[in-house]
Amino acid sequence: MGDEKKKYRSAEWFGAGSKDGFNHRSWMKNQGRPHDQFDGRPVIGICNSWSELTPCNAHLRDVAERVKRGVYEAGGFPLEFPVMSLGETLMRPTTMLFRNLMSMDVEESIRAYPLDGIVLLSGCDKTQPAMLMGAASCDLPTLVITSGPMLNGKFQGRDIGSGTDVWRFSEDMRAGKMTLEDFMEAENCMSRSNGHCMTMGTASTMASLTESLGMTLPGASAIPAVDANRYRVSHLAGRRIVEMVHEDLRMSKVMTRKAFENAIRVNAAIGGSTNAIIHLIAMAGRLGVDLSIDDFDRLARGVPLLVNLRPNGEYLMEDYYYAGGLPVVIDSLAGAGLLHADTVTVNGSSIIENSKGARNYNEEVIRPFDKPLNKDVGLAVLRGNLCPDGAVIKPSAATPELLKHRGRAVVFESIEELRREVENDDLEIDESCVMVLKGAGPKGYPGMPEVGNFPLPAKILRKGVTDMVRISDARMSGTAYGAVVLHVSPESAAGGPLALVRTGDMIELDVENRRLHLDVSDAELEKRRAAWTAPPPPLERGWVRLYHDHVTQAHEGCDLDFLAGGSGAPVPRESH
Ligand code: FES
Ligand code: MG
Repeated sequence: MGDEKKKYRSAEWFGAGSKDGFNHRSWMKNQGRPHDQFDGRPVIGICNSWSELTPCNAHLRDVAERVKRGVYEAGGFPLEFPVMSLGETLMRPTTMLFRNLMSMDVEESIRAYPLDGIVLLSGCDKTQPAMLMGAASCDLPTLVITSGPMLNGKFQGRDIGSGTDVWRFSEDMRAGKMTLEDFMEAENCMSRSNGHCMTMGTASTMASLTESLGMTLPGASAIPAVDANRYRVSHLAGRRIVEMVHEDLRMSKVMTRKAFENAIRVNAAIGGSTNAIIHLIAMAGRLGVDLSIDDFDRLARGVPLLVNLRPNGEYLMEDYYYAGGLPVVIDSLAGAGLLHADTVTVNGSSIIENSKGARNYNEEVIRPFDKPLNKDVGLAVLRGNLCPDGAVIKPSAATPELLKHRGRAVVFESIEELRREVENDDLEIDESCVMVLKGAGPKGYPGMPEVGNFPLPAKILRKGVTDMVRISDARMSGTAYGAVVLHVSPESAAGGPLALVRTGDMIELDVENRRLHLDVSDAELEKRRAAWTAPPPPLERGWVRLYHDHVTQAHEGCDLDFLAGGSGAPVPRESH
């Protein structure tokens, strides 16, 4: 804490002896707030994405109460406020259509209100990057508390994981290996407590990366949502954010280029979601940190997969927490010289200092560096005439034999057509074919939904085949798996070469050499391009129109072009 009393931005509202100061304080006093709360102490905004429509965040009001205790103890003034929330399992056509909208809500709320420090309460997939993006564009001292994973699912004597096992069960049912009764029973057994998906899906990935970036207290991301330790860490976070305001420890000091590089390496070691690529690039864009998809490929090389969690491995987040959680992974990567030491986290120390000596209590769940689950897999960024600006595949989640493959394309113009056709036994397709889906990119769908791990034809599943090469401009749920090439850029709706593929073309995938090639001559592709017309915007008005006209492509993070960068948090002009 500084010697003389610093004047924070909230004092521009609450410190005035004028009519304006009266207005700002008096209405707040209708909540029973004593006058000394307005004496210039740090005002902490608890930005809450609580919603009953976002089940993964449904307990965040309780978390906010714990944060407030800590803020009061440290001499701050906590004020909780709601922002838009994005419930992954309910929102249509996809939460991704609204990530940037939520980020705008977060950004504008922070700037317009008398706040000096921010605690972001997030959980479900898109709520995490949306909040970080919005807050980054304001750049106040900021700390994140994630909602924490659900307890492991328990079904017929075994553990089942969010998402991952749903994909498996639904394929099993289509292949005749599971009854509808069992399927329905599994539904009651999967989501047993508060919290986000407890596989290493996008939420667990983004929580781990938020911790790796330095934005949470150490070890916080893996604590199950219902473990008392999550409340304890929330209470401590409340204390800490007040100190961060005194220290002026802003987001831009924490989320540096080196912090992003650390996060990319951690992402490889935990087997994180492909969605992390899009979200980290968008977050970096708000801070003026230059990050590209090629950084993900380059930095992940040589990083072993250490975390044995579904969809890449066997276990679930609860096991991972009991094994020691992220500090074990960080300590292990740091020991191999794979992380930058000169970064700072919200507690003032680096992730390496914070994780030093972390003990691994279960080497099956978190593998030692020299006994990895998989050597050097990471996320591969492909190039070629089918994806001039890149495409992504997660080799750890694919059938190894398919990582080098040449096959005949079978093209689907929409996901609806695909879903219909995979049930059609007359469809001309076998397991050597390459399934190609168009129209599922950022502009095309709109919103780039998680349909990239689309279903295999029923007649092929019945043969016992469980994986095929699939290519699209869609994303894939972080809980999903398969030999799926995602994020093809530019997307088909923006006139990318994907739009020109026809059934019968030959496609070559070569992950080792990072190549995705459409075996059609340039002259023929030019002819097809001349005959191609762009689809109209999905809607003429409203958010969807704004989104469609300004969303960037997958390799650029799918932010709106005009949201890149930040505007800080200068005190706006008076309202009355
Ligand atoms: Fe919310 Fe998976 S549905 S984290
Ligand atoms: Mg998901």
